[in-house]
Amino acid sequence: MSILVTGGAGFIGSHTVVELQEAGYDVVVLDNLSNSNVKSLERVEAITGKKVPFYKADILDREALEEIFSKETVEAVIHFAGLKAVGESVQKPWEYYENNIAGTLTLVDVMRKHGVKNLIFSSSATVYGDPAFIPITEQCPKGQCTNPYGWTKSMLEQILSDIQKADQEWNVILLRYFNPIGAHKSGTMGENPNGIPNNLMPYVTQVAVGKLKELGIFGNDYDTHDGTGVRDFIHVVDLAKGHVKAVKKTEEKPGLKIYNLGTGVGYSVLDIVNNFEAATGVKVPYVFKPRRPGDIATCYSDATLAKEELGWVAEYGIREMCEDAWRWQKNNPNGYDE
Ligand code: NAD
Ligand code: WQD
Repeated sequence: MSILVTGGAGFIGSHTVVELQEAGYDVVVLDNLSNSNVKSLERVEAITGKKVPFYKADILDREALEEIFSKETVEAVIHFAGLKAVGESVQKPWEYYENNIAGTLTLVDVMRKHGVKNLIFSSSATVYGDPAFIPITEQCPKGQCTNPYGWTKSMLEQILSDIQKADQEWNVILLRYFNPIGAHKSGTMGENPNGIPNNLMPYVTQVAVGKLKELGIFGNDYDTHDGTGVRDFIHVVDLAKGHVKAVKKTEEKPGLKIYNLGTGVGYSVLDIVNNFEAATGVKVPYVFKPRRPGDIATCYSDATLAKEELGWVAEYGIREMCEDAWRWQKNNPNGYDE
């Protein structure tokens, strides 16, 4: 079976290409490299020993998509391509709606014209807003998003669900990721944020490697065990393996399926700092800062459904997430840049 991976040069995409190739799938990658470096795919090739056919193309570019679907045998699409910076989406809502929503509509239209109706979509725990209950099951109602990025995910879930409802040949799997961190064991692939990181783990590793002075912890007065925010951090390789299981699921009968991909365990920001220091022996100086607007206190999953229906469970613990993120950062202080 051959799979088109949009956004395959990015953080989660590149790790997923490794797992797909290692599971024996043929993979084609499309990425416009707006938030990634093609070197990630060279690293994939070094790990798997297989070529990664790559198209530098935009999901908004219908002609480029037509060419790919005409030339390649695509049976399923894993759709990672999208802009994902929460704060930037508040400043540039048009760009986020255009890229993520118009881009996905174009992709889906080209897919159906070519009779490809298996789609795995990167959604996010952000669609739950401030969750109605914890741990969050897929039955938890979707909530109010606090930023345009989150709305693109929530709206795309609705759009893809409606498309599947209208045409039952579609197989749509919405994967709601919690907080992916960590990196490939080889230390050659990992997260490569542009500029100062927004997310916790890349900030921690950049403090540890000496690129940033100290971590600012956003809020220590939440109603959590130590006052700092609690999240469901998941190793990116576990997340990648969840996609391989989802691809297998598309071989069954078509339909709409929604799965949380998380560990089911919540760690606070201070837990992360402490676990990182214990796993790596490197100190992470921090200061407490005010709460970050839009943040919630606690967010972690109940991932039972993915276990029951996909046969998937996250295997890596917090220590490995910290060790692997650190190995990548230490070996590649400037990410994929020389
Ligand atoms: P990433 O930025 O590393 O990867 C996204 C890739 O998509 C990048 O390589 C980028 O160049 C590409 N891209 C963006 N717009 C494109 C376009 N118009 N055409 C072609 N390529 C385009 O991000 P990631 O962390 O790997 O996230 C992958 C997906 O998972 C995204 O859709 C993201 O919203 C979603 N997601 C991420 C997280 C997270 O915390 N990292 C959590 C939940 C969901
Ligand atoms: C985690 C915790 C922060 C940075 C975001 C998106 C979400 C999803 C995953 C895509 C929070 C705290 C962080 C720092 C800190 N992405 N923190 N200092 O906000 O849970 O989720 O990424 O879909 O949509 O919103 O992740 O890593 O930014 O924050 O104290 O410098 O770490 O306040 O409690 P978040 P995060």
